[in-house]
Amino acid sequence: MAMAKHSLLVGFGGFLPDRVVTNAELATKLDTSDEWIRTRTGITCRHIAGPDDTAASMGAAAARKALDYAGLTAADIDAVLVATATPDQAFPATAVRVQAALGMTSGFGFDIAAACSGFIFALATADSFIRSGQARNVLVIGSEVYSRIVDWSDRGTCVLFGDGAGAVVLSASEQDDGIGILSTHLHSDGTLGDLLYVDGAVGQPEKSGHLKMSGRDVFRHAVAKLSSSVDEALASHGLTDADVDWLVPHQANIRIIEGVAKKLALSADRVVVTVDRHANTSAASIPLALDEAVRDGRIRKGELVLMEALGGGLTWGSALVRL
Ligand code: COA
Repeated sequence: MAMAKHSLLVGFGGFLPDRVVTNAELATKLDTSDEWIRTRTGITCRHIAGPDDTAASMGAAAARKALDYAGLTAADIDAVLVATATPDQAFPATAVRVQAALGMTSGFGFDIAAACSGFIFALATADSFIRSGQARNVLVIGSEVYSRIVDWSDRGTCVLFGDGAGAVVLSASEQDDGIGILSTHLHSDGTLGDLLYVDGAVGQPEKSGHLKMSGRDVFRHAVAKLSSSVDEALASHGLTDADVDWLVPHQANIRIIEGVAKKLALSADRVVVTVDRHANTSAASIPLALDEAVRDGRIRKGELVLMEALGGGLTWGSALVRL
């Protein structure tokens, strides 16, 4: 039976720069320790971009893998959406650079700025284009080089972040089989903008350009807002905690992830965790985690996946997907 158009997740890809920096290596340059970083955040190491790695180059690499997975080529893609807070240039958009890297001269691309929630916001946007019939196949990418915006002398922030890119391919379906993106739920509250921000940009070149954060306040908002966000997603479909097969959270801090998992009464083996090896890759973290768990066979077709993220803005949201 035919039903309204909706989006399937049909491809997954990830890219991580070669260079791995351990906590021990950071401790040779900063007044910190492996023990402090591990116990406060769950992070043991992170990948750091090389001189040639950019949001566009890493995004294109992740996109190629996602296209391969989907069995599609760039010619099949109608839109490229890139979530990033670390674009190569003010313009053209990173998405347009990715289009060019893939050899695309048709379709459209643009970037989405929602910091660490960017992938959820981009997924929601892509889903809307598909539901409205404006696109059939969409690449949704999160790609970040936070190593270029953190203050490497601020131990309170620089140890938390890493670089990388993740991508998914969405395809339109009219099949009435309950598979695909069930819904997305987006929020932002700009009155909390000063809790986590980058000090300046191309429009304010006199500023430092460094990431600034009130860690404790962000932590408190994260657990509360993510918990209400997952409740909102489940309630909108009459589902309960017990229906969730997998939580694929934004990977900021293992203690935030565990806080939300506990609220959902989900056991640790139902939560996809990469923060230990990737640290916080911002908009790239969810598609990187999805890619890993789909490829290693943990997440199977037909399972219910709940994604959630919170980031600078503050922005936060969730997506409920039956794979
Ligand atoms: N190594 C060693 N000590 C450090 C340190 C580091 N890398 N970073 C901070 N400290 C010190 C602080 O200077 C402070 O010392 P003081 O008490 O002498 O002033 C002490 O550790 C405690 O700092 P505090 O910031 O209160 O620690 P915390 O328990 O809140 O943990 C975070 C800090 C950042 C790990 C935690 O607040 C957090 O994870 N917040 C959420 C951040 C986040 O995920 N942001 C991104 C969301 S997308």
